[in-house]
Amino acid sequence: MNKATPVWGLMAALPEELGDLVHRLQAPTTHRIAGRDFIQGQLQGQTVHAVTARIGKVAAALTATTLIERFGVNHLVFVGVAGGLGQQVRRGDVVVAHELVQHDLSAWPLFPRGEIPLLGKTRLSCDPTLTQALQTAAQEALVGEQRLHSGLIASGDQFIQGHDMAQRIRDHYPDVLAVEMEGAAVAQVCEECGVPFAVLRTISDVADEGAAHDFVAFMRDTAAPLASRVLARLFAG
Ligand code: ADE
Repeated sequence: MNKATPVWGLMAALPEELGDLVHRLQAPTTHRIAGRDFIQGQLQGQTVHAVTARIGKVAAALTATTLIERFGVNHLVFVGVAGGLGQQVRRGDVVVAHELVQHDLSAWPLFPRGEIPLLGKTRLSCDPTLTQALQTAAQEALVGEQRLHSGLIASGDQFIQGHDMAQRIRDHYPDVLAVEMEGAAVAQVCEECGVPFAVLRTISDVADEGAAHDFVAFMRDTAAPLASRVLARLFAG
């Protein structure tokens, strides 16, 4: 983590995924930019900017860049749901990313498949200190049968449902644990801007034919409370 006074950015794609965080911010003020509400407030004495990005890599990149460039965010945490792709990853489990990749990126034959052109990287690493803090908070926040995993998350502009779609990602990235639609875009923005970041996902489905079933109810009943518990612990510690 960098040593500047922390200015936190907390992002999710959808409002439910942030849990109760926005309601716990003290002295909140809202700035509306590019159709998004950037809500600034204090949490346990720390400055936090919370925002929902909407779905997809472009929306996530726009929002992350705004947090950094307009609000001086120097620590960024993304929370939300994902589809499970790892063999041991079940619905309700939690995955903390150590690395992220854009599974739908290919500028082949100009660059190797998956490599971010001119950045020379395929996988982007999360900040180890922030990721460890998020992992510790997540471990304490698990309930019931929930288990914590850490490793590779793949992002792309597709909702993955069905064996063939899921298998294509596993074929390219055999160690992948989960798939979602924003994390690797946030990772690229943070990498290029030099901002430490971490990503946590609750597994809402296993990217099969029934992936969209009960999606909204899962966010409300499982992902939102988990995010609330994790973020409360992250800021308490
Ligand atoms: N977010 C939650 N589930 C997902 C899936 N199956 N594909 C992409 N993003 C997701």
